[in-house]
Amino acid sequence: MKIMRKEGKSIGLVPTMGYLHEGHLSLVRAAKKHNDVAVMSVFVNPLQFGPNDDLAKYPRDFKRDEEKARLAGVDVLFYPSEKEIYPSGYSTYVEVKGLGDTLCGSSRPGHFKGVTTIVAKLFGIVKPDMAYFGQKDVQQAAIIKKMTEDLNMGIEIKIMPIVREKDGLAMSSRNIYLSETERKDASILHQSLSTAESMVNQGEKDARKIIKAMELLIRQKPSVKIDYISIVDKRFLKEVSSISGEVLIALAVFIGKTRLIDNIAIDPAAVKTEKSFARKA
Ligand code: PAF
Repeated sequence: MKIMRKEGKSIGLVPTMGYLHEGHLSLVRAAKKHNDVAVMSVFVNPLQFGPNDDLAKYPRDFKRDEEKARLAGVDVLFYPSEKEIYPSGYSTYVEVKGLGDTLCGSSRPGHFKGVTTIVAKLFGIVKPDMAYFGQKDVQQAAIIKKMTEDLNMGIEIKIMPIVREKDGLAMSSRNIYLSETERKDASILHQSLSTAESMVNQGEKDARKIIKAMELLIRQKPSVKIDYISIVDKRFLKEVSSISGEVLIALAVFIGKTRLIDNIAIDPAAVKTEKSFARKA
């Protein structure tokens, strides 16, 4: 990579924990479009898993990942060992304050500190010009963006749209854990977000009413247990009780033992503009 940098080539980095799916590959395609070289990292980062999380059983299949990465056009695949990343005596951590207080930050203490630490290390090793993250992990992306700005890392953070299955389920490496019934039930996540979106489009501003409607829908599936449903402002990720500006409607659920997340960004002003435009036409 040093040579590529010396040759003045721009580098796009796609950090992953492997078990690649179409969501990751869409990031590679964007990295290739915007840069001369696409680098992908595959590292299941122990630092971002809590004691009750799924670190031990997190899906790993390097051969499969290597093939998918090659077919997607990844130029450099970086798959360090745990010892290379965290040698004995390792003692430096990166933490962004504030943005991690809500959503997944409240249910997974320490998670984002693990994410920012590994991402800062990957940025230090690869020295990319741009780095690519998915909107599904919207809080992660916002925190990484803030870290990059606050630490003057000079890396452009690109946040790419969620890639969904036909029934709307957001692609995730963890979907592999779901049984057939759980997989069917999982479509309720996207359905509940679509319900929320329609309510906002119809003028509903009361966050509590929207969350209630989503809860009612999700509770129809006994295999799905709600971790949180939250409506936060898009910039600071603080909960709102009334929707006035751009918001994120985000949720995390357990389906059996599998924790899945999803979200939708809504801008009521854009909805109004579209409506008035439609009326004029
Ligand atoms: O989103 C992920 O897969 C991980 O959190 C990341 C960004 C690769 C850091 O381990």
